[in-house]
Amino acid sequence: MNVMAPAPKLRGNYTAAAQDYTMPQRHSAIPERDHATWRELYRRQMALFPRHAARAYREGLAQLDCALGVPDLATASARLHETGWTLVAVPGLIPEEAFFSLLASRKFPVTDWIRTPEEFDYVVEPDIFHDLFGHVPLLFNPTFANYMQAYGAGGMKASRLDACELLARLYWYTVEFGLIQTPLGLRAYGAGILSSAGELQYSLTSSEPKRLAFDLRRLMRSRYRIDSYQAGYFVINSFDQLFEATEPDFTPVYLQVREAIALSGEIAAGQALAGEVEFSPSVNPG
Ligand code: PHE
Ligand code: CO
Repeated sequence: MNVMAPAPKLRGNYTAAAQDYTMPQRHSAIPERDHATWRELYRRQMALFPRHAARAYREGLAQLDCALGVPDLATASARLHETGWTLVAVPGLIPEEAFFSLLASRKFPVTDWIRTPEEFDYVVEPDIFHDLFGHVPLLFNPTFANYMQAYGAGGMKASRLDACELLARLYWYTVEFGLIQTPLGLRAYGAGILSSAGELQYSLTSSEPKRLAFDLRRLMRSRYRIDSYQAGYFVINSFDQLFEATEPDFTPVYLQVREAIALSGEIAAGQALAGEVEFSPSVNPG
């Protein structure tokens, strides 16, 4: 799930949605062709996962047990009972306040349509494959589950502080495009990577992008790309590290970041600063 930009025409059926943007899924009405698309996408990603996906993500995916077709959100939500998350259907991208408030109440919005076979490799707006297959497995991880809720609450605060742009960078570089360091090498945990066959390999094995250690203030100064593979990634050591770094009140952080930007500017996507250490690409591509 990403937050909607001041939108051109979006694809979903927004008239079917309630005021909080949620709507019924109507799982039994999903055509067989959509289930076939799901199975095919699932199979392609799975083939890459042993050497590319974070372990916590793979464990969550196994618990989700959704290889056979587009999951029923009620069934998937029931499987998530231990971390208390509920999946809700939405027509597509939704405004950020609606998004934050759902997350803050442990509701994860999932787009109710899937890409067409012609869009197999690339779809402009996030679909249910990205939202559910990409994001939901980590909601089985207790630390990450708490992080996502805290992000929602933090978003409501950032709206009041006019800091959504800075906070969105955190989402982008962790929830969507995060990498994690493991004893076996770098692995992806970001949904934008895990739902893309091309970026899964690129993010871990290409020598093109910069891979830098996660640093909250540094990250909030960093711009990002929305129309191509990322030029830079941030690497965490553990979900505990991520949670601890983001737990403190961001009010002073936003001030510091704004000050740093006023003084030294934003940092371009993929730019490394003097003295910054890069992680090497993974040496065991699959
Ligand atoms: N601590 C953050 C704040 O005060 C909340 C937050 C937690 C934001 C986790 C993002 C991720 O705004
Ligand atoms: Co997303």
